Amino acid sequence: MGSAVLTAPRLRWACALSAAAAAGAWWFGDKAPYPYAQRSLLELPLPFLTSARLDAVLTPSPGERILEVGPGTGLQSLHIAPQLGPHGQLDILDIQPEMLRHVMHRAGQRAVPNIVPTHADARELPFDDDTFDAMYLVTALGEIPEPQRVLDEAVRVLTPAGRLVVGEFFDRHWIPFGPLHRLADAAGLHLSTRSGSTLAYLARFQPCARSQRSLRGPES
Ligand SMILES: C[S@@+](CC[C@H](N)C(=O)[O-])C[C@H]1O[C@@H](n2cnc3c(N)ncnc32)[C@H](O)[C@@H]1O
Repeated sequence: MGSAVLTAPRLRWACALSAAAAAGAWWFGDKAPYPYAQRSLLELPLPFLTSARLDAVLTPSPGERILEVGPGTGLQSLHIAPQLGPHGQLDILDIQPEMLRHVMHRAGQRAVPNIVPTHADARELPFDDDTFDAMYLVTALGEIPEPQRVLDEAVRVLTPAGRLVVGEFFDRHWIPFGPLHRLADAAGLHLSTRSGSTLAYLARFQPCARSQRSLRGPES
């Protein structure tokens, strides 16, 4: 009977092993694209990637046309779209049609009329050049194979004064800030703002070549 009793050191080891097993299951069970079946977890606001911080970094304004890639269940979409007003539009693009249907259903319930869904892969954006005032992805870029292609596409579809906001959070698909900065550099994007640490951050970039061109003025 005595052998069934866990002593304090054994209990500590048992707790540590259970915690490690749970962490391993969380890390290795984390799939891409994020499974629709686990959508309820997307409703939990992530620390440091709050709506208030997204507003401060993205600065959405009435009348703008903004593209959100990887909206999931719409945690950010339903917050940003109303800020664009009746003359603005939020386009949401996702590789999983269930996610788009979910957001549109919630937008209907809340009477948010200016969200337009597009089913596509972010590596090939089905939009013309210079279409959007801004584009953002929150915990989505790291989940997409070939993130460089997404950033290259962002540069193409943004207007010359456009802005790209990337939010990343520590999980299996997380892109630490350093590698993201290098990818952005290769795409011709320069950093204008960053909020948070490398473990959980929102970073804002602008197309450099275009901004340099516009700074040179019409005579150059
Ligand atoms: C972890 S969820 C993030 C959802 C939401 N942004 C949030 O923070 O709650 C990632 C989203 O990216 C989408 N996604 C993954 N790969 C994609 C791709 N190649 N093109 C477009 N969307 C993609 C997924 O379907 C999912 O909706």
